Amino acid sequence: MRKARWESVALYAGALALAFGVSLANFAKASPQSSGGSGYQLAKKVMLGGMGGWDYLSADPVSHRVFISRGNHVMVVDADGNVVGDIPDLMGTHGAALADEFNHGFTSNGGSNSVTMFDLKTLAVLSDIKMPDAVGPDGYVYDPASKRVFTFNGRSNNATAVDAKSGDVVAGSVPLGGKPEAAQADGAGHIFVNIEDKDQLLEFDSGTLKVMNTWPLAPCMQPSGMASDTVHKRLFIGCHNNLMAIVDFTTGKVVATEPIGTGIDADGFDPGTGFAFASCGDGTITVVHEDTPDKFTVVDTIKTQQGARTMAYDTSNHNIYTVTADMTPAPPPTPENPRPRPVIVPNTFTLLIYKLSSPHALAAPASGGASASASASAAASAPGAAGSGSTSAGAGANTAGASGSLVAQGKALYENTYMCVGCHGMNGEGTDLAPDLVGTRLSGDEIAKFLEKPSADASDKGMPDIPATSPDLQPLVAYVISLKHS
Ligand code: HEC
Repeated sequence: MRKARWESVALYAGALALAFGVSLANFAKASPQSSGGSGYQLAKKVMLGGMGGWDYLSADPVSHRVFISRGNHVMVVDADGNVVGDIPDLMGTHGAALADEFNHGFTSNGGSNSVTMFDLKTLAVLSDIKMPDAVGPDGYVYDPASKRVFTFNGRSNNATAVDAKSGDVVAGSVPLGGKPEAAQADGAGHIFVNIEDKDQLLEFDSGTLKVMNTWPLAPCMQPSGMASDTVHKRLFIGCHNNLMAIVDFTTGKVVATEPIGTGIDADGFDPGTGFAFASCGDGTITVVHEDTPDKFTVVDTIKTQQGARTMAYDTSNHNIYTVTADMTPAPPPTPENPRPRPVIVPNTFTLLIYKLSSPHALAAPASGGASASASASAAASAPGAAGSGSTSAGAGANTAGASGSLVAQGKALYENTYMCVGCHGMNGEGTDLAPDLVGTRLSGDEIAKFLEKPSADASDKGMPDIPATSPDLQPLVAYVISLKHS
């Protein structure tokens, strides 16, 4: 992310207001509208107030909390925008990585070159972890394969890591050769990061920290936001030249581009609906549907609010969160200050919550067909995807060739996409949040029914529902059955 996102938001808002000759106050107060083809609608607008700007947001699919970075602290709100806590005394924080497996969160602090580890439930600060090789930590990602949190350091142009369980700094760093922006993990030990000033995508190994590939992203320029579909091996990259580039992350090839708004900052992907999102400072969120892993359709442009450039996406309740604030117009330029910046009006900081009104308006990417089955077997053969450290995927694979790849696909969905692992444990052994799945008495059909419509207790606790039309249902059922038999 940018060094001072709030400043660039302000600058952009100012430029736009000047260009259109409208007052910023009017712009900011223009009422957000409900959306069209995606079924998303504004559900709630919450005035959070407080001083200062903001940077990345993250949504926890297990607790449904949203973490909002505000420079010197992180605000924590529930799914309805009620403030439930705060992580104070941070220096230039850009947001928080969440490792539900260990009940740990990690804020990336650009001002102190550190990561603050906190308890995800109580929000108590556990330690401030200094990272000797990092200057200006900004973006971040949690990698479930190596169990490490990576920060992407905007002033030292490298990536550094801490162990998500112990909070120990991992020795060494990954040289990135340019300014990093958003990143994603594929769950099989590979990290992908945008190199904004080189128009590149870089891949490195989360275990060895070795750079594996650097790919040009043309026609994408200044790649910023990133989201991933780990099942179909796609990255959704938000580019500052008003494009979403969709990349096959096994080859680095740009397979498609779709038009998006101006001032992109964040992207999201929902494996349940097949929607990819791009949130832009011009007050739009573009919704792109993944029809197949190679074919995409823009289905909606949600009008949000001027300045709402970043977003967080909760994959288990499908909510979109974005934030913005009103700006005062910039003063006229002077020789001393040729680019004066508009300033945030105190106490206008606002959270917008969008909910899916017709939950499964569109089917997720087709599970049949050549491309999807090709990617299912790719999932099975990808290093780490087919069950390193787990015999269950292998056991499934022995039963029948076809179900082997389904089980591997289900395992990736279980561990990464839906974070079932956060409640049911790494091998379905159960945690204090949810029962073990190894001992379930449910049949395959009953498991499918339960996943389509979890019990009230399970959905209250945050278990996602998987629509009957979702191509992910079958693989998840196959994986749960493989656990049961192991
Ligand atoms: C936020 C926590 C949470 C997450 C995430 C979660 N579950 Fe659950 N799950 C629960 C709880 C709690 C129950 C027990 C509900 C009850 O007993 O009524 C449950 C029950 C189940 C059951 C029924 C077990 C039985 O024997 O009755 C299955 C199957 C299951 N989950 C599978 C999954 C899968 C697959 C995923 C990921 C797609 C998942 N769960 C994600 C909390 C969760």
